[in-house]
Formats: sequence, structure tokens, C-alpha cells
Amino acid sequence: MKIMGVETSCDETAIAIVEGKRILANIVSSQSKVHAPFGGVVPEIASRHHIENIPLVMDEALHQAGLNLAQIDGVAATYAPGLLGALLVGLQYGKSLAFALNKPFVGVNHIEAHIHSVFLENQEVAYPFLALIVSGGHTHLFLVKEFGRYELLGGTRDDACGEAYDKVAKLLGLGYPGGPLIDKRAPLGNPKAFRFTKPKLKGIFDFSFSGIKTACLLEVQKQNGKLSENFINDMSASFQSAAIGFLIDRLVSATHQLKVYNWVICGGVSANQGLRKTLEIVSKENDCRYFIPSVPLCTDNGAMIAYVGGRYLESGKHSPFSLNAQACSELPS
Ligand code: KG4
Ligand code: ZN
Repeated sequence: MKIMGVETSCDETAIAIVEGKRILANIVSSQSKVHAPFGGVVPEIASRHHIENIPLVMDEALHQAGLNLAQIDGVAATYAPGLLGALLVGLQYGKSLAFALNKPFVGVNHIEAHIHSVFLENQEVAYPFLALIVSGGHTHLFLVKEFGRYELLGGTRDDACGEAYDKVAKLLGLGYPGGPLIDKRAPLGNPKAFRFTKPKLKGIFDFSFSGIKTACLLEVQKQNGKLSENFINDMSASFQSAAIGFLIDRLVSATHQLKVYNWVICGGVSANQGLRKTLEIVSKENDCRYFIPSVPLCTDNGAMIAYVGGRYLESGKHSPFSLNAQACSELPS
């Protein structure tokens, strides 16, 4: 089945066409330049840009795949979680397309799609596995029992990891999105220049990033408005080391408690070079296998939506056209 996947949950207007695990087209139109002056995504602006971009992105996807609309066998679109106005654009577009083409439609959960992005690259991940989703909007640890069955082990109590990256980058005057900019600076600085206390949380697999972010703010304020290159590099290195240390700490605890030794790391922050290097070492130390998408599939894309949508459609599951967008949602257990 050739499935069109539509993704507009945040600031990427993305459409892909996927057949099984084969990506026939994968077009992502990022709005990051539009939101950069604000240091983060402005929901209303994101929705308006999705409306303008989406027909162009679809035409480009069909062109790249060498297909016309009549050759599409089904349509999948993200329905949750994300920015409500932004989600509504892609979801309505996907539903309308399926209705007009008289093809089956399925709504896809964005988190479930991130978890399965590694499958698109033929990485053979055996169930059960632990999935760490780290992005701008989400930081969750799941036990994935099988396709469609998930147990939430923990999540962030405040900021998502990528959100903290973006906010610290803003404090350092680096720009938006901040994750890749801090990642570039981190190897130039001293990761021990600033020490951050590990947050103490009741839920053993929960996360918190707002304390680290506030500690960065206090250090920046001590500089009286003048941030030297050394300070920016040292702060980038120290923040990155603390954030990664925290993620890995939870992942390793869950591994030993649940005796599950396969890891999937996904979401925008999984593009981080420091995280990738640390995973290489820590996975060996703990006798684990880890799976991580290539960088273009770490951030939001339509291919992961089309892939998960395709699996549901092939198993006979459709969504009604009454399916609505949801800003927050849980995965099936
Ligand atoms: O998955 P994604 O594209 O969108 C959401 O679902 O949120 O993730 C975007 C987030 C942003 O916060 C961005 O700063 C972060 O991923 N990110 C990174 C890197 N590349 C993107 N964070 C750290 N290091 C990176 N190399
Ligand atoms: Zn995402």
C-alpha cells in the first residue's frame, strides 16, 4: 500500500509517501526561520503557515515519488499530541483528501510515530524495548510491549528536554532552534565548568529540566549582560552534559529494573551528537542494543506518520472522519 502521511503538529509542514518501509518521498518544510525572532514556536503563526504550505508540500511529495493522487492507497495524518491549531490543519487536510479520493483514512499519534521512525531504516528492533522520546514538546520513557501496546514509565514534570535546549540557547543568545546550536558549541567548552544538581523526583523514571534551565539563567545573570565566547561554550558543554546524564540515568535504571535490554531513542533531541556518543559507550557498559534514526528522521517528518498509518490500515484499522485533533493524548496500553 502506498500511504501518504501528513504531519503538522508543531512547526514543520511535512508530507511523505511510504510503501511498507520504503520511503518514496519525504518533504519537510520547516518554519524555524519564521519563529526564530520569537525564540520559540508561536502557535497561531504556525497554523497560518501550515495552511499556506501544505498544498505545495503535497505537490512536491507526489512529484518526488513520481505518483499522482489516484495512485495513493490510503491517507494517514497526525491527530495528537501537539499544538491544537497546527494539528487541525494537517488532520483536516488528510481527512478531506481521503474523502475526496475515496481512500481509507487513519489518524496517527505523533509519539507512536516517533517511536517507530527507526523501523523505516530497516533496523530490526525486537519487542519488548524501551523507547526514550526526547523532543521539543515531549520527554517520555515507554516500555513498548509490541506494536500498538505501550506502558508509560515516566515523563517530564515540567519542560521537555528540547524545550530546555531551546530556552538555554535563547539565554545564551544563540538563536532558534537551540538544540543543534548548543550541540555545536558543547565540544568547544568544559562540561565541568558549571555543576547542576540532579532533580529529586518521586516517580523514579520521571524527568525535570526546569531546574537546570533556571540554574543557567542565574549564571547568565551573573555575567552582567556580557557573555564571552568561553562562557557560552562552557555553559553549552555543562548544560548538555547534565541533560544527557539525566536522560541516560533514567534509561539505565529502567533497563535494570525491567530487564529490557533494547533501546529506541527518538525525537528531535536524538539528533544530538553528544547523546549519540554517550549512548555508544553506555549501551556497551550495560550490554544493551540501541537503535536511533538517522538525523533527518529524528525530527518531525511525514514518513513516520505514513509508516505507522500503513501498519494500522493493513491490519484493517481505519479512523472515522469525525476524528478530532487532541493537544494531549495517551498511547494505547
Ligand atoms: O521532534 P521535533 O522535531 O519536534 C517535536 O515534536 O517537538 O523536535 C524539535 C526539538 C527542538 O527543541 C530542537 O532544539 C531539538 O529537537 N533538537 C536538538 C537537536 N536537533 C534538534 N536538540 C539537541 N541537539 C540537537 N542536535
Ligand atoms: Zn516530534
